[in-house]
Amino acid sequence: MLRDLRKLPTDRVLVSPSVLASDFSCLGGEIVRAAQAGADVIHLDVMDGGFVPNLSFGPPVIRSIRPKSGLLFDTHLMIEHPAKYAAAFAAAGADHLTFHLECSDPAGEVIDAIRKAGCTVGISLKPATPPEAVFPWLEKIDLVLVMTVEPGFGGQSFMAGQLPKIAAIKREILRRKLHIQLEADGGLDERTVIPTASCGANLIVAGTSVFRHPEGMEEAIRRLHAATGVLDSQL
Ligand code: DX5
Ligand code: ZN
Repeated sequence: MLRDLRKLPTDRVLVSPSVLASDFSCLGGEIVRAAQAGADVIHLDVMDGGFVPNLSFGPPVIRSIRPKSGLLFDTHLMIEHPAKYAAAFAAAGADHLTFHLECSDPAGEVIDAIRKAGCTVGISLKPATPPEAVFPWLEKIDLVLVMTVEPGFGGQSFMAGQLPKIAAIKREILRRKLHIQLEADGGLDERTVIPTASCGANLIVAGTSVFRHPEGMEEAIRRLHAATGVLDSQL
């Protein structure tokens, strides 16, 4: 199984199911179910009750589910002090750590802490943050995550106003010829994935629409993967 984000392709749609929408009473089984249904990586939403007005889980939970899956753990840190906790998440089994540019730690320090811990690095932008904010960091990171809802909760409506931001970041990635995963997170389903992938996002986070799809998880993931057909078409 591939657990190095740098080796994942950027020219097809990959699906990262968010376990926030899963049944936490059997989290290990839910991850196995997602892997069997065709998930490419697993999205783990970490919230500290400070950076976002919600709490989820931390390193002990990640450690407990690590033996259940060979898939890459795409860990989304919605926390104020990612530099302080990067080593703990890496030791628990996270392969990739995405932090928010709006957090309280300087971005350069967080990137160094994540690299030192041995993980690949992502930067996430909240809806109000402009695309240019991440441009100075592009050469130093492996992934950009554009939030298509306000971070903190699953099950919210997709914000179509974020599409131009996705396109602007993708154009810059292509202009500089960088191999960077462009990820979108929030309110994504078989319908909203179309404009999102058209604008250049290839790594699609989906919680509710995957774990609670009426026709099952395999069908949900298959329909998201099908958006490879429109990837980058609106650039
Ligand atoms: C929100 C999280 C998302 C969330 C997505 O703060 O970062 O990953 O779980 O959930 P859905 O797909 O239900 O919008
Ligand atoms: Zn997330």
